[in-house]
Amino acid sequence: MDHLLLTGATGLLGRYLMKDLLSRNIKLAVLVRPSRKSDAESRIEAAMQVWENLLEKKLPRPVVLSGDINRPDLGLSTNEIKWAAENCSSIIHNAASLSFVSTGRDSEPWRSNVDGTAKVLEFCQQAGITQFHHVSTAYVAGLRQGRIYENELNLGQEFANPYEESKVMAEEMIRGTDFIESLTVFRPGIIIGDSQTALTFTYHNFYAVLQLAYTIGHSMTEPNFTGKIDGSRINLNATGDERKNLVPVDWVSEVMSTIVTDPGLHGKTYHLTPRVPITTRLFRDIMEEMVGSYGLGLGVDRPQEENISDLEEMFFKHMEVYQSYWKDDPEYDSSNTQNAVPHLPCPHVDREMLTKLAEAAIAKGFNWRDPKVEKANLSPVLV
Ligand SMILES: NC(=O)c1ccc[n+]([C@@H]2O[C@H](COP(=O)([O-])OP(=O)(O)OC[C@H]3O[C@@H](n4cnc5c(N)ncnc54)[C@H](OP(=O)(O)O)[C@@H]3O)[C@@H](O)[C@H]2O)c1
Repeated sequence: MDHLLLTGATGLLGRYLMKDLLSRNIKLAVLVRPSRKSDAESRIEAAMQVWENLLEKKLPRPVVLSGDINRPDLGLSTNEIKWAAENCSSIIHNAASLSFVSTGRDSEPWRSNVDGTAKVLEFCQQAGITQFHHVSTAYVAGLRQGRIYENELNLGQEFANPYEESKVMAEEMIRGTDFIESLTVFRPGIIIGDSQTALTFTYHNFYAVLQLAYTIGHSMTEPNFTGKIDGSRINLNATGDERKNLVPVDWVSEVMSTIVTDPGLHGKTYHLTPRVPITTRLFRDIMEEMVGSYGLGLGVDRPQEENISDLEEMFFKHMEVYQSYWKDDPEYDSSNTQNAVPHLPCPHVDREMLTKLAEAAIAKGFNWRDPKVEKANLSPVLV
């Protein structure tokens, strides 16, 4: 039986997809690059052991192809390419760089998201993989406002950062190929940890902003007589009313796994966005609670302090990267998703859930560590 090829299996969404698809007895192959400390097989074995410990049950293993989407032929050996051509006819292309800043067209996020996707497409064409599932983002809408439909992509909009633009280019490139027989595109909102367990494996977006506030807040000053840190000299450059579309990773993965395993649902674009967005005011409140501060300002102007301290300056400088994060989101129409999986509504993201997620991230020091494993052998071929 055919294997489904998954890229990005070591990331947050990829690990959930790997667990959910294997739990549904889907035969899976994963394209994984080695890290500085581990080979590809051991990385996947460690991720699988984490799931088995959490779920207290055995799971099947995927076939591991050690490769890199930025290398010609994805860095695979002739035997591995042959194996993929004989055993895979579908792919979930999920690997991407989530970098919001870029030093140029040859660096991230362009390198992995555009050039890497081009290499994945070349590989799929060569290997006869014609069923394509692509993980894009709701933020391909860039700076558009109003209602955004699932059948829209490039309407000449501007972008808040190179990441958004690179994801549009990737989607356009995939849509422009002629060998793909079925294309399904998933566009999640901002992915946060597990709605039930607060588990996360990487710390982007929501977590990165929280980590910045937490780290700098704690090194900036001591709590005063109130027992809290005075945050009143800082403002977040948001009005508090901006809407942000946060979605728990367990829901994104469950919806994707349901759609990917039901051919009747292929061929469409799905906005994986929440029923109700959160506001930047709620996010500010969570930050204050976690940092133990008060007075963190909301306002669209940066305070004109002459005697701004080095740490305050550093805070503002780092926050510039996330400035796009505070913009008001448009309204996402998710009719395709609602029609496809009416029984899987997005869990409501509220103060309680965000507090749990933030506490869990702080307890882990915003850093996930996999267990060390013996060298695993999950490769299908002799390389
Ligand atoms: N996180 C969000 O808020 C969000 C929102 C909307 C859409 N998305 C999309 O969802 C997908 C998954 O995101 P995520 O949050 O799970 O990100 P993540 O945790 O950072 O994972 C990214 C994955 O891509 C892999 N990857 C990156 N470059 C690669 C390369 N050159 N070769 C092989 N693998 C490579 C990473 O491998 P390593 O472990 O080796 O680095 C990792 O497995 C992406 O397509 C992203 O654009 C994410």
